[in-house]
Amino acid sequence: MASKSPVQKDGFTAEEQRGLYRAIYSRRDIRTFRSDPIPPEVLARIIRAAHHGPSVGFMQPWDFIMVRDMNVRRKVKDLFDRERQAASSFFDEPRRSHYLSLKLEGILESAVNVCVTCDPTRAEVVLGRNSIQETDLYSTCCAVQNLWLAARAEGVGVGWVSILKQPQLRQILGVPHHVIPVAYLCLGYPVEFPPEPVLQTAGWRGRMELEGLVHFDGWEEGSESGAWEGFKAALSEEAGPERA
Ligand SMILES: Cc1cc2nc3c(=O)[nH]c(=O)nc-3n(C[C@H](O)[C@H](O)[C@H](O)COP(=O)(O)O)c2cc1C
Repeated sequence: MASKSPVQKDGFTAEEQRGLYRAIYSRRDIRTFRSDPIPPEVLARIIRAAHHGPSVGFMQPWDFIMVRDMNVRRKVKDLFDRERQAASSFFDEPRRSHYLSLKLEGILESAVNVCVTCDPTRAEVVLGRNSIQETDLYSTCCAVQNLWLAARAEGVGVGWVSILKQPQLRQILGVPHHVIPVAYLCLGYPVEFPPEPVLQTAGWRGRMELEGLVHFDGWEEGSESGAWEGFKAALSEEAGPERA
């Protein structure tokens, strides 16, 4: 997927580009882990990558709660089990049984859990946050994505567990009331990085066609849509990683 066009002044070399795109396309949500621990320096690099994510007004609203303690993890796992059961009632059969058959977390098997939180009060006045208050949450998600990609480059898998009630999670981890636990992540060396999303392999949901999701000069087709022909052709020609 690396660019065939000449290297631009500030562009990466073809090899660097390949590395970056490989991290992006081969990153997976991981729920099945080997028991090997993550060396401290590797874990530190991954968390530092998260801290270098973009944030509104450079607010850096995140904190990282590193969780190894099995007692804490068991409480989180119990919370997950309850939530998963409750969530299953939203589906009719056979979807309900299918949902319950999916493995959707690796809380106890992973090497470490990391809860990434968002503190909306981190900065008194945040440049650029007046119009959209949620930009602190968006920023935290950017940190999570950095973490996820850096982990992939290190051969470490990450699984995001969101089937958890926030107030209870906050209580288990002792998170202050005003701080939002955004992402509960399981990190560890995976049994494998599956070539496609596990939910896709399980027949739950497939990747949508990108062509149908790209709009030109507005939601409805603009009158100047001819100006995009080259881009449209490139978009449909370039094989995605799952088709390549
Ligand atoms: C905000 C968010 C919450 C998620 N929550 C869960 C979860 O609770 N359990 C789970 O198994 N996967 C969870 N996932 C992972 C998605 O299922 C996964 O990203 C998607 O199926 C695409 O697969 P991929 O990440 O391997 O490409 C979550 C992902 C995101 C971004």
